[in-house]
Amino acid sequence: MTEIRHLSEHVDQDVTIRGWLVNKRSSGKIAFVQIRDGSGVVQGVASRSDVDERSWQAIEEAVPESTVRLTGKVSSDSRAPGGVEIHAGEFELLALSEEFPISPKEHGVAFLMEHRHLWLRSTRQRAALRIRSEVSQAIRDYFYDGGYTLVDSPILTPAACEGTSTLFETDYFGDKAYLTQSGQLYLEPAIAALGKVYCFGPTFRAEKSKTRRHLTEFWMVEPEVAFMRFEALCLLAEDFLCSLVARVLDRCAEDLEVLERDKKALEAVQKPFPHISYTEAIERLKKKGNQIEWGDDFGGDHETQITADFDRPLMISRFPTKIKAFYMEPDPENADVVLALDVIAPEGYGEIVGGSQRIHDLELLEKRIEEHDLPREAFEWYLDVRRYGTCPHSGFGMGIERFVAWMSGVKHLRETIPYPRMLNKIYP
Ligand code: 4AD
Ligand code: MG
Repeated sequence: MTEIRHLSEHVDQDVTIRGWLVNKRSSGKIAFVQIRDGSGVVQGVASRSDVDERSWQAIEEAVPESTVRLTGKVSSDSRAPGGVEIHAGEFELLALSEEFPISPKEHGVAFLMEHRHLWLRSTRQRAALRIRSEVSQAIRDYFYDGGYTLVDSPILTPAACEGTSTLFETDYFGDKAYLTQSGQLYLEPAIAALGKVYCFGPTFRAEKSKTRRHLTEFWMVEPEVAFMRFEALCLLAEDFLCSLVARVLDRCAEDLEVLERDKKALEAVQKPFPHISYTEAIERLKKKGNQIEWGDDFGGDHETQITADFDRPLMISRFPTKIKAFYMEPDPENADVVLALDVIAPEGYGEIVGGSQRIHDLELLEKRIEEHDLPREAFEWYLDVRRYGTCPHSGFGMGIERFVAWMSGVKHLRETIPYPRMLNKIYP
């Protein structure tokens, strides 16, 4: 069995491929069958005079999405996708498909979402999922090459990391447990064991709002680094993002083409990124006519407006203490703000990275837990990080669906994850 992606290495040889029929055309004398095997798509050409009667019958009978096997000779053809086609010798129908619910005609989103398991087979969906896979691998390579250790954080947790309003609660042998919102709290202790660490896994937020940028289950990558201060964190986020964008441009050219992604916009993503303070961001938004005051959080629309002036990701730092998480280090020059960084993607894709320097002083952290009304007992272990050899440290999180949406030029996050989970949406 040969994978379609390897066919160009087999020109003038006989091969057998197996996969799904994309479509077919036949004049009665000659038939063209397009076959997809996951690694690529190829056209088979069968002339009635060259194939046996059984093969011709099978071609006649086959309908789109049937599983098929094709044996024939590979020939190079510069007009064909992948540069080759197969001159069929034998065609076998392995399993006839029922009429496939998704056709090239337009379908409503609700219908496609109900059939997500079948929608995955569409050209654009395959391209977006391949980009996602490449991004995941690039993330692992980046941190592996940088000397980071992967520390898998738990999914069932006893406490909140990012505020209590978006917790999914579950019963844990009579106690309350929550699906994790972020692995960060579990990475911080690990820096004292391993120095530079990261986690990369599913995270959960009971987001009650229906937006194109929010999933209730999404994958987040989070690095955490001992002795790293805020300025170095900003450089790390910038370098990380540039490296991922370059990797997508380098390895996903065909998929970007399928998605009709404007590559120029991605090529512009070079260091240094523009960097403004939260305070400046508020001033810019006011100048654009927004009713927003210092102390307000940005909405999706604000993020889109503020990045419109820039051709690459925008870094915004030093946010009001009261709108950010309890663990963020105060700015030594201004106690009203914390050393927090948000990176906003251009073209309206919203916040892709959120991070900060962490409080490393025990007393201050105890005070913040109290101010945020968090259950102290659940955080005793987390406070230990500050009891036994504390140090300044920083980290960030990036939701990969937002990043993949930006790379792919796909507007809604539902097309960047195989099986999206959203408000009131858990089937299939
Ligand atoms: O800004 P957030 O909430 O930061 C944290 O969770 C930190 N504990 C991370 C850290 O410092 N280790 O979330 C980080 C990123 C966002 O910038 C966004 O990319 C993504 O996670 N994100 C979501 N993606 C999809 N759907 C949602 N509902 C998301 N919420 C956050
Ligand atoms: Mg955030």
